[in-house]
Amino acid sequence: MLRRLHPDQPDSFAFTPANQAWAEAQITKFPEGRQASAIIPLLWRAQEQEGWLTRPAIEHVADLLGMAHIRALEVATFYFMFQLQPVGSVAHVQICGTLSCMICGAEDLIAVCKDKIAPNAHELSDDGKLSWEEVECLGSCANAPMAQIGKDYYEDLTAESFAALLDDLRAGKVPTPGPQNGRYASEPLKGLTSLTAHEADKLPANASVALATDIGDTVKRIDGTEVPLRAPWTDREFKLPTPSAPIPAPAADPQVGDKPALLTGARDTGADDLKKIKGIGPKLEEALNEIGVYHFDQIAGWTEAEVAWVDENLIAFKGRVSRDDWVAQAKELIKDADG
Ligand code: FES
Repeated sequence: MLRRLHPDQPDSFAFTPANQAWAEAQITKFPEGRQASAIIPLLWRAQEQEGWLTRPAIEHVADLLGMAHIRALEVATFYFMFQLQPVGSVAHVQICGTLSCMICGAEDLIAVCKDKIAPNAHELSDDGKLSWEEVECLGSCANAPMAQIGKDYYEDLTAESFAALLDDLRAGKVPTPGPQNGRYASEPLKGLTSLTAHEADKLPANASVALATDIGDTVKRIDGTEVPLRAPWTDREFKLPTPSAPIPAPAADPQVGDKPALLTGARDTGADDLKKIKGIGPKLEEALNEIGVYHFDQIAGWTEAEVAWVDENLIAFKGRVSRDDWVAQAKELIKDADG
């Protein structure tokens, strides 16, 4: 799928003060010069705040990390978890369309999305509250078919239960996540066949669902009003990283070896085809011509010290002369030409 930035973009982006503090704390987890490693959590936080990743948000995160904008754009456009277009103001629904879910009725759920949200994935519903997309396996195959809505999984869905769930979301309610068919977790539909002493029916929900309900993040945007996430690195000092400078090419060491006799141009007979030497391609031939090497006999006459000099001074191709024994090859080529 082609992933492009949305044509309509806001003018600017700023983290809420709480999210800014959280982002700065994330950055201090990484050593000096490696701040770019925080790109995924920061982009994710920006998405959690806004619902989707805007171009100003991506660029803001890049600036925070001292990265070129294009590097952050590469990450944001590569990973499918980043939404590059506006999503529903209440929820973005992700339907698993992989094997188990497909066999168990994912297509029925997608039909509900088309009917109750919008005909096409990534389109907003008319009221702007919901959007949907089909995603790959979400790892809840034993409870297929399922959907991720916000941060929670809704499992064991049917077209009817899913439609009711969307109605609840639209009405501002947050349905309880987890299996929607009365199952406690992923035990057999007909009841437990082992560990039968476990009294699941006396518990309100399995641990994941109980935790999700307790935390209550659900479909909520992270706008800074929630309990701050734990960021035990906050006592470290945040320093805005300096933009990464291009890595300078290592300078050649003119002291190594002896400089051989070099020419300012090919002789009147024309330059030899240095590409006949195994290991020399068009680029290397160009580099050799640039330093003044045009002929086989020049190479054939190099001493060990001169080989060392050329090896050192062909910056991007260091060590090639000795590695491929150009001197012996050049001698053979001259012999062939004479013979
Ligand atoms: S196939 Fe749907 S969760 Fe794995």
